[in-house]
Amino acid sequence: MKIVPSEKIQPVWWRETSVYQIYPASFKDENGDGFGDLQGILSKLDYLKGLNVESIWLSPIYPSPLKDMGYDVSNYKEIDSRYGSLQDINVLAKELHKRGMKLVMDLVLNHTSDQHDWFKESRSSKTNSKRDWYIWRPAKYNKDGKRLPPNNWRSYFDTSAWEWDETTQEYFLHLWAPEQPDINWESPELRKAIYDIVRYWLDRGVDGFRLDVINMISKNQEFPDALVTDDRYDYQMGYKYYANGPRIHEYLKELGQILHEYNAFSVGEMPHVEDTDEVLRVVGADRRELTMIFQFDLVSLDLVPGKHKYVEGTWKLSDLKKSVKKWQSIYLTGGGWNASFIENHDQPRTVSRYLSDSPEHRAHSSKLMALFIVFQGGTPFVYQGQELALANIPRDWSISEYVDVETQNFWKLFMSGNPTQEEIQKTMDIVNMRARDNGRTPMHWDSSPNGGFCPKDVKPWMRVTEDFNEWNASSQVGKPDSVYSFWSASLGYRKAMKDAVVYGSFELLSEEDPSIVAFVRESNSTVLAVILNFTDKSVSYECPLQIGGFQVLLNNYEDLVIKENVIHLNPYQGVLFKKSLST
Ligand code: NOJ
Repeated sequence: MKIVPSEKIQPVWWRETSVYQIYPASFKDENGDGFGDLQGILSKLDYLKGLNVESIWLSPIYPSPLKDMGYDVSNYKEIDSRYGSLQDINVLAKELHKRGMKLVMDLVLNHTSDQHDWFKESRSSKTNSKRDWYIWRPAKYNKDGKRLPPNNWRSYFDTSAWEWDETTQEYFLHLWAPEQPDINWESPELRKAIYDIVRYWLDRGVDGFRLDVINMISKNQEFPDALVTDDRYDYQMGYKYYANGPRIHEYLKELGQILHEYNAFSVGEMPHVEDTDEVLRVVGADRRELTMIFQFDLVSLDLVPGKHKYVEGTWKLSDLKKSVKKWQSIYLTGGGWNASFIENHDQPRTVSRYLSDSPEHRAHSSKLMALFIVFQGGTPFVYQGQELALANIPRDWSISEYVDVETQNFWKLFMSGNPTQEEIQKTMDIVNMRARDNGRTPMHWDSSPNGGFCPKDVKPWMRVTEDFNEWNASSQVGKPDSVYSFWSASLGYRKAMKDAVVYGSFELLSEEDPSIVAFVRESNSTVLAVILNFTDKSVSYECPLQIGGFQVLLNNYEDLVIKENVIHLNPYQGVLFKKSLST
């Protein structure tokens, strides 16, 4: 069935743009300290322009102790000196705008670093004026008088979500690391300070924000115990009580009002929300909350629902298709907007995770993903290195090379259970497949030592994957059949045919087909068909369209065999077809 966009979906820049996410620590080190920086980003603007991306989102670059790589902010109005200065950000905004591009910053508004002045004050005494800017609760005691946290919530980093503070003899809440205390949006003064930060950056010329776990800012004030879903853990996931909590829309409306004033872009990270009405309450065009959200279906396909991320699971193409159809329909007919993504700094690389990173199929896989992500309805997101088909960390790296707090905490907990050698190997397989570290290894710019990320005699903050010799930017830019050129062409076509790709209808074809994802985008003048073989086998696909009347715009193989309406597709082959409609 053809899904026709609601009239509420009116042309606006943030629907038309495409976003490239930079993980600054791993993008390009220009000052030779082994850590990426803003000068490094400035040196690559033409590379980005050539890719045809139109907005750049920077993961957090504010001063931070880096307990969680910058998602622990100690000052929202400065730039960490490792990355550069406020002056560099001004130049970056100016240079991007000169190229017709936009700048998106990452705002972390659910928690701060424990080194933020606000928290230092808050923890100094129970009567401090900022005490209620964070979430403090008294201890509970069991019948033997043992002190317990206020409830059984588990943090995302595998510990209790509460930390005891000796000075003031209370617990504070931290949904992530103990060094990332959650802020208390119930306090009007705190909210005022947050909105001031939002205006501060917009006034500096920033075009919008990615809002870190923004759906967790309103907590159920009873702080009830979570249901026990995994009895191997002392603590349980409590998101039922804080994902899209009681006052979320009130807060998002206050925030959205400011964003709207500046016609700013906003993408809110929104895990754990399946209720489609609730999503539309956030992104509905007439709601003035956020312009779009990251919904987690496609990055959870291989996870076991309700279980820990490192529990083995498999994924099904039918689930991927169901999700695409569901969200295209909800967003387009409901007057919302989709953020089309499958990689970011919290996810492994898709060629390794869902497709194939074998030498034979790695390029095909990434090009197929380009068609899948770019031509769906919504604003597409490309994560640094995705445009070069970067792959996961090799399996033979030891756990000590994984530097992320999430991976390290999980491993500590796992090893404390005295696992057998067999369990260790098996769990390491899963960690290698899923760890966030996979997306955080330094970029591959060329085949020189350290992949051109930093000078050859400098140790990069994180080990560079060795396949940079072959898979790097300089071997792909300017080569017509490279992965980079394919992503660039896809994004270019999206821009050139926005009537169909941005504002057109969507129809999923052959829903029951076990190997093929096929969809049509259509405007009054153009029909585009995207046909993707998601398997490692050749497939003959009987296309319901009169495909002979279409022209091939993009194909990730040199050949394409079509007889009547049967398309013979090689493993991971993906094709973009176009037909013009006479008016
Ligand atoms: C989501 C971010 O993407 C992730 O990297 C971070 O660890 C958590 N939020 C906490 O800020």
